Amino acid sequence: MSTADKKVNNERRSFLTKLTMGIFGAGVASFSWPYLRSLSPNILYEPPQRFKIGLPETFSQGVEFLEKQRVYLFREGNSFHAISGICSHLGCTVKYTPFRQQKEMKVRNLDVVSTGEFHCPCHGSKFRDEGTNYAGPAPKPLAWHPLEISPDDGQLLVDISQKVGRDFRLVV
Ligand code: FES
Repeated sequence: MSTADKKVNNERRSFLTKLTMGIFGAGVASFSWPYLRSLSPNILYEPPQRFKIGLPETFSQGVEFLEKQRVYLFREGNSFHAISGICSHLGCTVKYTPFRQQKEMKVRNLDVVSTGEFHCPCHGSKFRDEGTNYAGPAPKPLAWHPLEISPDDGQLLVDISQKVGRDFRLVV
């Protein structure tokens, strides 16, 4: 065999060795991937359900929307309550629409003065300003969440993992 033939042979052998190693490596990787993936558990990182929103005196009278948490905070004097901004139909964010003038109406057989209502942009559900559903496909009222004062710094704390009745008020 000539030197030139030996060189061609060596190059061919080297190429075949690299090709074989590549195929072997790809095979090992594809078999071991599910095992390696199982070492990293599927964790869903959700935002905290209980969070501080600020000192009570920093909120103005009326309604304030906490966009990130999708919660409406109501303040009347020193009384606070929090209503979920998540539609009870399919979870769109409802929008609070204030009335031009307060309205007197009956809600849940009670005479109330209402300052606005919630509208859902997705399928048209409507809710009174205390959360009662009255139009559209929403099957139940908007949720009310508990509020408390944080003992360490006096901020308002909302817990959206919990629900409270519609007579809940935090007076500070
Ligand atoms: S998600 Fe609100 S009405 Fe459907």
